Amino acid sequence: MSRNNCDAKNISTEKSTASTSQQIEKKTGELLSKLTIDEKLQMMDGDAPFWPGMEKMLDGKYNEHPWTSGIIPGIGNPGIRCSDGPRGIVLQGATTFPVSIARGAAWDTVLEEKIGEAIGRELRAFGGNVFLGVCVNLLRHPAWGRAQETYGEDSHHLGEMGVALTRGVQKHAMACAKHFALNSIENARFKVDVKISRRALHEVYLPHFRQVVDEGISCIMSAYNRMNGEWCGQNKILLRKILKEKWGFKGFIVTDWFFGIRDAKKAVLAGQDLEMPFHMHYHSNLKQLVDKGEVPVELIDEAVSRLLREQLRYSDSDSGEYSRKLIASEEHRALALESAEKSIVLLQNKENLLPLTGVKKIAVIGKLADIPNTGDAGSSKTRPDYVITPLAGIKTAFKGKIKAVYNDGSDPEHAAKTAAGSDAVIIVAGYTHSDEGEFLDPETMKKMASFYPEPAPEEEYIARRLEQMKPEDSTGAFLPGGDRDSLTLSSEDETLIKTVSAANKKTIVAVMGGSAIIMESWREKVNSILMIWYPGMEGGKALANILLGKVNPGGKLPLVIPEKAEHLPFFDKNAEKIEYDLWHGYRKLEKENHKPAFPFGFGLSYTDFQYKNLLLCETVLSPSDTLQLQLELSNTGKFSGEEIVQVYISAINSCVERAVKELKAFTRVALVPGENKTVQFEIPLAKLAYYNESKEEFVVEAVKYEVFAGSHSMDPNALKACFSVQE
Ligand code: BGC
Repeated sequence: MSRNNCDAKNISTEKSTASTSQQIEKKTGELLSKLTIDEKLQMMDGDAPFWPGMEKMLDGKYNEHPWTSGIIPGIGNPGIRCSDGPRGIVLQGATTFPVSIARGAAWDTVLEEKIGEAIGRELRAFGGNVFLGVCVNLLRHPAWGRAQETYGEDSHHLGEMGVALTRGVQKHAMACAKHFALNSIENARFKVDVKISRRALHEVYLPHFRQVVDEGISCIMSAYNRMNGEWCGQNKILLRKILKEKWGFKGFIVTDWFFGIRDAKKAVLAGQDLEMPFHMHYHSNLKQLVDKGEVPVELIDEAVSRLLREQLRYSDSDSGEYSRKLIASEEHRALALESAEKSIVLLQNKENLLPLTGVKKIAVIGKLADIPNTGDAGSSKTRPDYVITPLAGIKTAFKGKIKAVYNDGSDPEHAAKTAAGSDAVIIVAGYTHSDEGEFLDPETMKKMASFYPEPAPEEEYIARRLEQMKPEDSTGAFLPGGDRDSLTLSSEDETLIKTVSAANKKTIVAVMGGSAIIMESWREKVNSILMIWYPGMEGGKALANILLGKVNPGGKLPLVIPEKAEHLPFFDKNAEKIEYDLWHGYRKLEKENHKPAFPFGFGLSYTDFQYKNLLLCETVLSPSDTLQLQLELSNTGKFSGEEIVQVYISAINSCVERAVKELKAFTRVALVPGENKTVQFEIPLAKLAYYNESKEEFVVEAVKYEVFAGSHSMDPNALKACFSVQE
């Protein structure tokens, strides 16, 4: 296509978008003018009365239907009907994809967008219109119980994946990114105060949120925790100054669910638009605050306009084209399989044990081989109609080719005997929702009691039920789980691996879990290690396809796996206060010269890739330019495969302390044996800026930069080149 044609296309798209947004603006104004103040306030909180809502939570009936808000009869607005994720819609029968951290390991933005589309379609088929599952909290420490809900530890990677999911979902419904911001300790989420400098906030913890805002996301969910002394849900700096004013966010902000704000006046003044899911602070206080003039009506109008505008953006697709047949359709389940296959990371493969060849009998060992293990049981819990476990996947795929014998591993000596009599062994070990996940305990719920509305006489039994709950009682959905106590496998799993691998060295360990697991005590004793995360409803099939070599593993770690927990930042799951600085993950290990067990971005393949001829199109640029570069990639091995090419950049002689290098671009490339491809990247230099606290803005320094293009963050064969930025 010629350049002129291309420009003409852009102009006509802009026009149609502009007229649609003008129409939406006009309609928003019209609807707003029809609403009474009571109706406006009704749009600013959840529809559910408090005590019946609490009862559902206590009964474990959380998330069994979309949460609704603000459907005003006679006005014709669709209202808000939201449902959780991120591993799929959480309602009965929806497709369960691998968890986000697994999808992060696929580094495949095209696939992530397709997953977003599938989720958006299923949400609409269930009658929902807001997907609460774009979790882009930065993974600061692998003990975080909800690590599995996000994509990884690197802001650029996280932003790209979050944008892809948002783009896909928003073809059909509103997407909501969460939890804004600094939400990365689960057990302490209702109390912890995160102290942070403006530089660390803007450079490390916020850029990925900015990316989804720039993508046009409809909704941002604030976090429970505090930032620099103020609760995030009522934090004026975060919500009004940064999100709405500095970034120009046009959508609406929603609280996190269970008392995500503490003070209605502060929250509304800070820019909080919607309190979900029950009648809580806004319901009890906003009317009075407006009547007394303590909250200007303009602020209410602002919130309601934001809510209406986003609802209207999606109302024209309320057309009945979303049939129930879309839910877990063949196409969506195929995506879940593709995603699981692409997310599995081959960490070690001594003597090329994988893919399995010449094996007649394999021992499958471990309890996790034979249970559905799709991740957390909190708000992200999905309800698929089936889950293919590792054992089921292996049995089906190996049928007629390799005999699979199962031992649950509860007696390691017995398991070792089964292993000794087999040609190879696969142990499935790791975590479940009991070890890591969302956490809400009765103690926390009781601590919030001063905020609870007076129960009506017929509701008093619910309040009594809550009072009588003991610390260990399950709240239905949220216990156990929480932050991890250890970064290694359980001692039972480690003993099992050591005992079995002593009996048969041809051992493959498939590790399930939501983030980094330290493997030092056993990794040298086994031949192969696969990180399979929580791989979704088709996970067992994906694993079997990788074992047999039907699929070549191409996933890479979206986090660093350290040798020692001491190499990570300080973490305290019960912290009242904590300080977040610039350093975590691979950036911290590299700065402090700690060799990782497995580097960020690392993953093996059954084939070999060769990188050649890195070329920078220009080597002297100005701060507003975009760096263009290319390299040649070839598949020099015998298998078709996919390589994730990564580009890191270092600033040389910066005036501020910087990471040794940081990820700035990546792409997943498919190559058949012998094939060569030219891989191109464009990196706006704005991506290299640091946050200058005195100027309150990002600055692209006029210094020299080094480009490092390779297969992972510590690739010894990475290609290097330099360029400089001049004012
Ligand atoms: C979680 C959110 C979730 C919300 C609604 C909260 O407790 O922190 O991630 O979206 O509940 O279920």
